[in-house]
Amino acid sequence: MPRVLVLNGPNLNRLGSREPDIYGNGTLDDLRAALVTESRFEIDLRQTNDESELIGWLHEAVDTRTPVILNPAAFTHYSYGLRDAAALLTSTGLLLIEVHISNPHAREEFRHTSVISGVATGVIAGFGFDSYHLALDLIRRRLG
Ligand code: DQA
Repeated sequence: MPRVLVLNGPNLNRLGSREPDIYGNGTLDDLRAALVTESRFEIDLRQTNDESELIGWLHEAVDTRTPVILNPAAFTHYSYGLRDAAALLTSTGLLLIEVHISNPHAREEFRHTSVISGVATGVIAGFGFDSYHLALDLIRRRLG
């Protein structure tokens, strides 16, 4: 079964209790269970608060030729290191879909900038956990 890496950045381990009015009540475990149930891909969902670990996972995706769904969380807005790692993937033709639970453009100004979007294959934002499901649908459509 083809694998998809679903990578999540800082503070997303707090989903469920973190600002539920913005991010909803679901936890990352809930998300993993929902994605696994509906997918014909092997779902490898991970979360870290550590930028270097996240960059390492993107390098792993390059080396194993694995498509990535990435919620970079706050790193979205300033991590050039993460951007360069994302570019490693997409420059070799691998899919990298940037996702956000909320719509950052409808929030504070600093969230309007993504340093990742310019090197992502595409971006899905504002649909809660459905952002991840839509990204998975896209990978299914692209990879057949
Ligand atoms: C987020 C949006 C970011 O601005 C924020 O820092 C997050 C979550 C989202 O999924 O809506 O941590 O990426």
